[in-house]
Amino acid sequence: MKRKILLTGLALAPEAMAHAASQGVEVMPTTPYMPADEMAALIKAEQPDAIVVRTGKLTREMIEASANLKVIAKHGVGFDTIDIKAAAERGIPVTIAVGANAQSVAEHAFALMFSVARQTAWLDARVRAGHWDKATANGTELFGKTLGLVGLGAIGGILMDLVAPLRMAVKVYDPYLKELPQRDNVSRETDFDRLLETCDIISLHCPLTDANRHLFSTEQFKRMRPGSLLINTARGELIDTPALVEALKSGQIGGAGLDTFNPEPPPADSPLWSLPNLVGTPHVGANTTESRDRVGMVAVQQILDVWAGKALDPRCIANRQLLGS
Ligand SMILES: NC(=O)c1ccc[n+]([C@@H]2O[C@H](COP(=O)([O-])OP(=O)(O)OC[C@H]3O[C@@H](n4cnc5c(N)ncnc54)[C@H](O)[C@@H]3O)[C@@H](O)[C@H]2O)c1
Repeated sequence: MKRKILLTGLALAPEAMAHAASQGVEVMPTTPYMPADEMAALIKAEQPDAIVVRTGKLTREMIEASANLKVIAKHGVGFDTIDIKAAAERGIPVTIAVGANAQSVAEHAFALMFSVARQTAWLDARVRAGHWDKATANGTELFGKTLGLVGLGAIGGILMDLVAPLRMAVKVYDPYLKELPQRDNVSRETDFDRLLETCDIISLHCPLTDANRHLFSTEQFKRMRPGSLLINTARGELIDTPALVEALKSGQIGGAGLDTFNPEPPPADSPLWSLPNLVGTPHVGANTTESRDRVGMVAVQQILDVWAGKALDPRCIANRQLLGS
């Protein structure tokens, strides 16, 4: 019988779909963000051998619904939407596509920095509505500013080098980083409060864990430099949204660029949407042709390797500690 991969979301990039087909594997896309009960029922009916998680959550109930399930592959790297403990209890590895989408997300974070600093989204909306704000609009340059990176993994590492031509000083806060790359403009900051107090822009590139939920709340916004900018392409839950709204409204911080929210999508009547100093995008940091091609191929290959009993790079298994491997 053909092995089956169920996708929580739309089809993979054509190359990845072709690769799966060439291995005699059936790939089953589904409606993005399908309601949880429907997804669990579908998994129960289809009994997939693998699941690729693209959108929405993969709960314990869903993981337990397929007796055939041998591997779960995250279409990306942020695995907080997957119950990795429930998977480990069944001996199922949860794989992540380490580095495959990093260039795209880093470029998106960079784009948000420019967009917030120059209010391009707001001004675009204004000019389309018939306004001409040439006399009043005012932005800030990024040149020579201090950028704080929270997390220096695949994405933070690329952004660190992207900003170099702008002569930005980069401060890295990453308690788990073994070695800081050697760069003249890059230094390490081990005190989180000092990072907040000394940076003009802070960009988040760490995973969401139980320990760092609401890493940014009222107290942290108060510590940040007046007028500074916050960029979040990591996870919405890292930020206390009502506290951010207050900080943006009061001018405590100068602006924010968000690709990730809590919840996703945010409600249509969220106070975020009335803030001119906020630029929002719908969790699309990794949505480029190049990134989708790489991530899709990596996810399919990881599944094939697990099925074949091949050892994966331990960094690519999100629940390796829970599995005891
Ligand atoms: N917007 C998007 O579309 C998108 C796409 C990919 C990834 N992401 C998010 O970006 C995050 C980072 O991705 P990556 O590929 O760079 O991951 P990575 O695993 O390569 O790097 C994460 C880094 O964060 C550090 N870290 C862990 N906990 C930390 C903490 N509490 N404070 C500071 N640093 C901490 C780690 O030591 C590591 O160096 C992902 O976890 C994911 O949530 C978002």
